[in-house]
This record gives sequence, C-alpha cells and structure tokens, in this order.
Amino acid sequence: MKIILANSYDEMSKKAAIILANQIILKPDSVLGLATGSTPVGTYQELIKLYDVGIVDFSNVITFNLDEYYGLSSEHEQSYSHYMRKILFERVNIELENTHIPSGVPEDIEKECLLYDTKIDSFGGIDLQILGIGSNGHIGFNEPNTRFQSMTHLVDLNYETIEANKRFFSDNEPVPQKAISMGIKGIMQAKKIVLLASGKGKADAVQKAVEGPITPEVPASILQLHADVTLILDKDAASQLQGAICKKSAS
Ligand code: F6R
Repeated sequence: MKIILANSYDEMSKKAAIILANQIILKPDSVLGLATGSTPVGTYQELIKLYDVGIVDFSNVITFNLDEYYGLSSEHEQSYSHYMRKILFERVNIELENTHIPSGVPEDIEKECLLYDTKIDSFGGIDLQILGIGSNGHIGFNEPNTRFQSMTHLVDLNYETIEANKRFFSDNEPVPQKAISMGIKGIMQAKKIVLLASGKGKADAVQKAVEGPITPEVPASILQLHADVTLILDKDAASQLQGAICKKSAS
C-alpha cells in the first residue's frame, strides 16, 4: 500500500484530482470507478478546474459508480445518480451514456447486479477505482462481514451507515435501509485503487484497514492484498496509524 499524507482536506482533494487527471491524460478512454459521499466532492471540484483549463478531456472516459440506494430512482434528489450529475457529470464534457450507476429501482435485482458486473467486464475492467471508507471500514456499501468474494449485490445497510447517511436527508424523509453495491471482489479487480479519507471519524477505520488483520470484519483491510493501492489521507484520518508513515510529514 502506498500512503500519501495531506495536510488538509483540500490538499487531499488536489492530490487525488491530479492522479485522476493523469490517468485520463495517459489513457483518454479510461474506465473510472467512482465513489459518492462527502469525501470525493473536493476531488471532483479540483478535477472540474483541470477540465476548465483544458488539461482533462472526458469525452472518451467511461465511469462506473460503486453504489446506489435501493428504492431511489435516478431522478430522486438524494440518489447517487443525481449526486453524480450535479457534482461532476453536468460540469465536464463526459457523455452521459458513458456513465454507469446501478439502478436503484430495478425490475429484477439479481439481473441488474449481474448486468452491472458484465458491463464492467465488457469495457475491459476498471482502470482506476476511487474509494471512500466508512467509519466502520466499509468500502462501497460492503458492510463488515461481507464476503470477500462478493460481486455487485443488494446490501442491508448497517445502523451506523444509515445514521451517517441521515445528514443528506431532510428530517421527515426516510433514509434508505438498502443499497446496490459493487462487491469486494469487483472492487479488488480494479487495476489501480485510490482510497481517500479525511477527518478524525475515519482514523480508526484507516488504522484497522492499513495495520490490522485482513478480515471481513474490516472490509477495507482486503486492500492490503491489492498490488496497486494508494491511500490519500489528511492528517486527522492518518492520526491513529502506528507505523513509520504517521511520522512522515505531508509531501
Ligand atoms: C459511496 C461509498 C461509501 C462512502 C463511505 C464514506 O459511494 O461507496 O463507501 O465512500 O460511506 O462516505 P463519506 O465520504 O460521506 O464519509
């Protein structure tokens, strides 16, 4: 695992955007795996800045998002489809038909999941996968004790995750209890992985993922087995790491 320390959320976002931009410059038809939530918002903003000055061209980029809330249509304001359109897709020159997000209202869940994995395969797999991490160590919406062999599937969100997601919903709005998520095996099949973490709330999960045993209890710990993983951590997220890395200053 390669660990990059950043002094702040903004610096983490800039570093992540540079890695993404470089990926797209080197391979204009890159297949990107994208995450939602609060962590990558700054990264997408930095990427848009690079697009605005002509450094990045999304016209041939293909994207696959990690997950979508089960029960929310793509038009729902809290859906991840809506999030992606507003935060990134409508602000760069990506072709919307090149963007993929699992349907939150599929007619047949099993078919939808299988189709999603098949589509990723048909594009030659994911070149670069962006991940956030849950405070319980989840990646995608693969909650603790998800099988490492899992592919795209319907998941029951944990109490902790539902509570964390509440901040995006208004008071009287029901918070989804389930989601469709790429599986852990699917994530591990990406050629490169970049995990972003910011804030003290992630420090324990980051420490367990990086320095703890590889166990389904901490889904992100599987990343220790991936050949090309970079973690970009701000100081707070790195604050519980015990190894030499936590003593290095941010570069
Ligand atoms: C989102 C996703 C989740 C989030 C994680 C952290 O697509 O797959 O794993 O990355 O829940 O969320 P934030 O960034 O909101 O703390």
